[in-house]
Amino acid sequence: MSLDTVVILAAGEGTRMKSQTPKVLHSIAGRSLLGHVLAACETLNPQQLRVVVGSGREKVEAHLKEIAPKVTTVFQEHRGGTGHAAQLALADLTPQGTILILAGDTPMLTGESLAQLLEGHHAGGFTASVLTAEHPDPTGYGRIIRGDDGSLVRIVEEKDADEFEKAIEEVNSGVYAFDAVKLAGAIGKLRNDNAQGELYLTDVIEILRNDGGKIAAVCIDDFTETLGVNDRVQLAEAEALLRDRTNEKLMRSGVTIVDPTTTWVSVEATIAQDVTLLPGTVIGGKSTIATGAVIGPRSYLVDCTVASGAEVKESHATSAVIGENASVGPFTYLRPGTNLGANTRAGAFVEMKNATLGDGSKVPHLSYVGDATIGEGSNIGAATIFVNYDGVEKHHTTVGDHVRIGSDSMLVAPVTIGDGAYTAAGSVITEDVPAGAMGVGRAKQRNVIGWVLRKRPGTKSAEAAASAPSTDQEG
Ligand code: UD1
Ligand code: CA
Repeated sequence: MSLDTVVILAAGEGTRMKSQTPKVLHSIAGRSLLGHVLAACETLNPQQLRVVVGSGREKVEAHLKEIAPKVTTVFQEHRGGTGHAAQLALADLTPQGTILILAGDTPMLTGESLAQLLEGHHAGGFTASVLTAEHPDPTGYGRIIRGDDGSLVRIVEEKDADEFEKAIEEVNSGVYAFDAVKLAGAIGKLRNDNAQGELYLTDVIEILRNDGGKIAAVCIDDFTETLGVNDRVQLAEAEALLRDRTNEKLMRSGVTIVDPTTTWVSVEATIAQDVTLLPGTVIGGKSTIATGAVIGPRSYLVDCTVASGAEVKESHATSAVIGENASVGPFTYLRPGTNLGANTRAGAFVEMKNATLGDGSKVPHLSYVGDATIGEGSNIGAATIFVNYDGVEKHHTTVGDHVRIGSDSMLVAPVTIGDGAYTAAGSVITEDVPAGAMGVGRAKQRNVIGWVLRKRPGTKSAEAAASAPSTDQEG
């Protein structure tokens, strides 16, 4: 079944959001509201897709260029209502076949429901079909007025509704399928004699009906799909509903989610079977988690690739690659460009960025590894710092295979530590260390014997020193 045109209305000011960001660019589950609507339409394969833009036009168009470059935009300079926006979208369109119109602020809609609406529309030979739902709290939505025979007579907006009409729980989702030719004939007849002084697209239903058109109202079971986001309360509602929907889909596909109420997975992420997500975990962006990985508790991953069997505890990672059976955390911060090989470890209080850790290498404790390439089987001792910044520029450090970096080493970049080399604990390494050498970069220790008794008499330290068995040694 072919669909000729899809029009998404996204020019409104979104006043109730109270935001500098255009409403349709606010996001839930890692995707903009408009992006969700576009994703739902994608499966319908329309011949053309138009988005009406207005408020925040530049930002919306830039976003569209990124996520849906084939979409054409229509500019609505002044907000004249949904009917006015639809008029503009149709202005230079040769009407043919079926046109689907929907709003950019209904992110919960699924492609299946849209397909269902279109199927009924075509099968019944309708002039217009409206997607509706029964809301437990219909406040704010246009209400569906049905005649005695149950057919759709008109849609009345909340602001124009009387008490009787306000009590109706069946609402307009803002999604309509139209016979394009009939719509083009009726859209010019809209009038703005209503509470908001706008042209309402909803009024076209009554116009078409009065012209003898056949109108359908298709009520879907799951009202949450038709949730419109007009303010931040509804934004959070939609976010929670989408979280539940995503988590349910993941669990049904074989992912263990210990606490679905505190686990948030972006719709763009891919989670394999037998992954375990522990409480408080957020998987954002286009992350990919392979089978057997255990993420959490309380881990935050954005645009990361995690290989099978890896574990990421209590950690934060962005644009990082975590290898097979790697172990990350707790309290690890992996910044963009971190690439951990198989069987590696980035342990507690370790920060890494733009750094590659070869297979089997470990950074177990309290270290900063920035701008580095580390070979295989090497160990970076506790509290080692890769000193990558000279105050002006960043420099690179190369560490070979099977290297042992002593605890509290400072590797001052640019510097290279050869294969199999060691550095002494506490060294400041400013020169390259050849393969197999021990780099020592620290002052030789001396003990000033008796210093405490002479300089700190009467203290607990002096007392302890005096009663120690070996204080009489000379140095
Ligand atoms: C609209 C419907 C209402 C329905 C609800 C569903 C009308 C008159 N009312 O109300 O029956 O229950 O959606 O969510 O259609 N827009 C433009 N240009 C404009 C005005 C709006 O492009 O001049 C766009 C907005 O960006 C938005 C969509 O149209 O994406 C709907 O507008 P909005 O103001 O949110 O309408 P509602 O009051 O929610
Ligand atoms: Ca709305």
